[in-house]
Amino acid sequence: MSENQDFHNRSGMLAFIGSMVFVTLFFIYMVTIDKGVDLAENIEVPLSDDAPAYNLAAEPEPWVSNPEIILAGAKVYRQACALCHGANGDLVGSSVPTARNLVEGAWTQGGGLINHFKVLQNGIPGTQMASFSAQLTANERWAVIHFIETITNNKSQDNPEDVAEFAKAAK
Ligand code: HEC
Repeated sequence: MSENQDFHNRSGMLAFIGSMVFVTLFFIYMVTIDKGVDLAENIEVPLSDDAPAYNLAAEPEPWVSNPEIILAGAKVYRQACALCHGANGDLVGSSVPTARNLVEGAWTQGGGLINHFKVLQNGIPGTQMASFSAQLTANERWAVIHFIETITNNKSQDNPEDVAEFAKAAK
């Protein structure tokens, strides 16, 4: 009986050692000899070069959000706002920690797209938040506002019709 069991254990051990040797050799083969398929090897043209560029300046209704204007807004944000508000809008890495945390969105000038546009138009007098009406076009300001909508927890409650009406008169 016990002899029988020893026999089984021995062959089990041999099978185990054998499979470990196989796995190890196969691993060495994969890492050193056949590195497999390079997923990028057949891509000749970078996809982004093929896609038509979004023309923010020609956007006829910049007060309406869409994925492309949000991307354009993210770019404006990196260039004009990230220094003070932080790369992600939460003041992390900011050089002006008195700037507002845009993610938290504890707005002092009123929430919503229209009030944000007014802040960018006029600045907040007496603070380091300057007017951007000279530095950014109206379309760039709408774009960055749409981007902020995507990162803030305190989102706009503005009625789209009111925003459109305000936007047509705003410069
Ligand atoms: C020189 C630093 C600086 C830059 C650059 C800057 N901000 Fe500000 N921003 C501030 C400060 C400081 C405040 C808070 C002012 C205060 O004390 O109320 C503020 C406040 C705000 C607010 C809050 C308004 C509210 O209702 O509370 C918004 C929105 C805002 N900034 C958006 C932007 C956007 C968008 C940009 C880029 C186009 C930008 N800021 C660039 C410093 C800056």
